[in-house]
Amino acid sequence: MRGGPRAGDAFGEMLLAELEIMQAGGGRSVTEIVERDDGFIRAASAARYFARPAEWAPFERRALDLAAGRVIDVGCGAGRFALALQERGIAVTALDISPGAVEVSRRRGVRDVVRASAQEGAVGGEATAWFPYLLCSPSELAGLVAGTEWELTDVEHVDQVNYLAVLTRGP
Ligand SMILES: C[S@@+](CC[C@H](N)C(=O)[O-])C[C@H]1O[C@@H](n2cnc3c(N)ncnc32)[C@H](O)[C@@H]1O
Repeated sequence: MRGGPRAGDAFGEMLLAELEIMQAGGGRSVTEIVERDDGFIRAASAARYFARPAEWAPFERRALDLAAGRVIDVGCGAGRFALALQERGIAVTALDISPGAVEVSRRRGVRDVVRASAQEGAVGGEATAWFPYLLCSPSELAGLVAGTEWELTDVEHVDQVNYLAVLTRGP
């Protein structure tokens, strides 16, 4: 790691290290260890943040298929979604709080990348209130959107760690 990690950007440093390994020909990979305060622990290769759609989970490919119009990729990481959307001709702005993630996305060819937090939310002059993850069950999500202009129209893979929720703006 060049000069040691910058405070507060461990994730970005991991992506930069993985990118450099890949550009040097691969052969090994950085391991990411996630430990959450609910007891969940997982160790996995950081290479998955660079994976092509053919290697993604089915719900991720479905999310890609649903994307249309202008897309904001909140928490873009190494830019795998933004790159796949660009390849499909979809206008995408990638946003990430991590300077390292922004640098990796740029170096991989994502054309429109913004370093900002989802909460700051100023992208191209449009206010956003997007968050990278909502940690809640589908029934809690339905409760959250009740009474708003958004409607929970589809939920897939509810039984998995991550699930796909489709929200549609009502009339
Ligand atoms: C687990 S990674 C997922 C990256 C990418 N979406 C993917 O699926 O490969 C989560 C990303 O969200 C970013 N992130 C976390 N909190 C954020 C926030 N408040 N605003 C913007 N980005 C954020 C992190 O820096 C990280 O790149």
